[in-house]
Amino acid sequence: MSYPYQIHSFEQYQSVYEQSITHPEAFWESVAQHFKWQKKWDKILDWNFTEPNVKWFSGGKLNITENALDRHLQENPNGIALIWEPNHPNEKERRFTYSQLHEEVCRFAHVLKNNGVSKGDRVCIYMGMVPELAIALLACARIGAIHSVIFGGFSAHSISDRLHDAKATFVVTCDGAFRGAKEIALKEIVDDALLACDFVQKVIVLTRTRTPVSMIKVRDVWWHDEMKKVSGEQFANFEAEPMDAEDPLFILYTSGSTGKPKGVVHTIGGYMVFTTFSFVNVFQYKPGDVYFCTADIGWVTGHSYIVYAPLCAGATTLMFEGIPTFPDAGRLWDMVDKFRVNILYTAPTALRSLMSYGLEPIVKHDLSSLKVLGSVGEPINEEAWFWFNENIGKGKCPIVDTWWQTETGGILISNLAGITPAKPAFATLPLPGVQPVLVDEQGKEISGVGSGNLCMKFPWPAIIRTTYGDHERCRTNYFTAYPGLYFSGDGCLRDKDGNYRITGRVDDVLNISGHRIGTAEIENAINAHTGVVESAVVGYPHDIKGQGIYAYVIFKDDLDDPDLTRKDIASTVAHIIGAIAKPDKIQFVNSLPKTRSGKIMRRILRKIAEGETGNFGDLTALLDPSVVEQIQNGKLD
Ligand code: WT7
Repeated sequence: MSYPYQIHSFEQYQSVYEQSITHPEAFWESVAQHFKWQKKWDKILDWNFTEPNVKWFSGGKLNITENALDRHLQENPNGIALIWEPNHPNEKERRFTYSQLHEEVCRFAHVLKNNGVSKGDRVCIYMGMVPELAIALLACARIGAIHSVIFGGFSAHSISDRLHDAKATFVVTCDGAFRGAKEIALKEIVDDALLACDFVQKVIVLTRTRTPVSMIKVRDVWWHDEMKKVSGEQFANFEAEPMDAEDPLFILYTSGSTGKPKGVVHTIGGYMVFTTFSFVNVFQYKPGDVYFCTADIGWVTGHSYIVYAPLCAGATTLMFEGIPTFPDAGRLWDMVDKFRVNILYTAPTALRSLMSYGLEPIVKHDLSSLKVLGSVGEPINEEAWFWFNENIGKGKCPIVDTWWQTETGGILISNLAGITPAKPAFATLPLPGVQPVLVDEQGKEISGVGSGNLCMKFPWPAIIRTTYGDHERCRTNYFTAYPGLYFSGDGCLRDKDGNYRITGRVDDVLNISGHRIGTAEIENAINAHTGVVESAVVGYPHDIKGQGIYAYVIFKDDLDDPDLTRKDIASTVAHIIGAIAKPDKIQFVNSLPKTRSGKIMRRILRKIAEGETGNFGDLTALLDPSVVEQIQNGKLD
């Protein structure tokens, strides 16, 4: 595989960037032509940010799996596409060549079809990090079904909500998942979810942990039984369904400032072109490199940068079932050593947690294969950046700090490894075709050095197309705050060289260990507890997670055992959303600081949670200013 669109110098970046914004359509056409299309597009771009309506490569026909798999079969059939490392290091890894992965995907595409899945159907995938998860995504794409992956940490209630929202009639799951020392009973959680979803026709169950599971006649089938039915040579291929460039590829739910997660929809053509382009350029992937992204496929990072982009680039992608601290804090370094990893893409939260174990888990391993390091999910603090650079990169690996979002599909702002300059704690410069702007509260564009809200003024090919089933929601969420612009929800500053530094969310969305959770969603879950009258949730700085969840709760009765009640509330949240949304701290209060119109002044609650003792700013809007002192006196450490 060669990448004619790979950028090789800073000067080249500058000229390509310039070209990409003066002639965006010609630019993206020049990239898109290096992919496999069944029919070329009629029009490169149609767009407005008012409806919004964005269409890239209209009229083009393709199947992304022909790009991710078939295209490599002639050139590199025995090249390794996917390496899978299991949770338990004594279990053997599995490797799939491009030809083997192609075959598995085709067989599972037959299985989907045999079980009644058709083009356009929504298939919910709730699995652990096993290779079959990647195979399931690709098999959906092969037949034109729309996958909706739900991270294995979400609760039955969350699954059920998402199944309803997407009207998903098929589920692919596992009996269970291994995660460090834990075993998670995924099928049981799905069973609970399905009690409220009688429209689900089939559940395909892969066995991984072989924990006992209920298998309901007609509805539930075993993955391996179904795969046996398609074991013959005649099933080794499955003609890729011809898809329109603007047909949906997947739905992925993400939190916003309202209580209900939204289904972000990405379409095939633009997503493929942009994610692959960004992968090849940001990480400077070279054929033969072993690339390891530590994310979970349940989040967008895994969709774009474990599965689709690396495979479309013909890369070797390494996926990992476990966690970085099991069986010990040397796990990632052990894998880098074992597989001679060249590119490592991980999250600041993982680095901060590993930093606390000292250097001993690192020095035992040979990390000399590493060439490029990457970070994603939240701002990387300088301490973690320097630690990563010195101890993992040994001062010789560029670190790419990649800023993007579920909605952006791929990386929008990042340095290109070794090509454009890095700057600790800065995501640095926009990728070609990406046009960031900073605006003040009134929407006035800030030029030069300054800070403001981060927006985009021109569509890139992987931009969100809609929120599933509710286009108006997409419009109001992203395109109305500043008319004519896509608003990211992030605050950001720009230095004199044009480098961007993301300062964090400016809306009521928390970033917990690089995962997005809306405060309203957590509050709704807390309020579901029988004794809770009202609650307010804010974030506070957390050493490992980046942000922790701080909840102020008004409880209706006197508390006999506040600690037990805290646990009950946490368990309620875990049941409604998932364990990731459990509050770290719950402070019981008598009242919340409200304005005369009844609005909670979160700014004050945030400051108290952050440990601020005075300086709460103007309190005159408060109905009862004495509340502030009361809450402050009860603050939890
Ligand atoms: C939010 C998006 C992008 C995939 C993982 C998270 C924050 C992400 C960075 C970065 C500073 C970052 C932003 C963004 N974020 N990457 N490199 N520097 N902040 O996807 O769940 O959609 O969250 O994560 O606040 O808005 P997500």
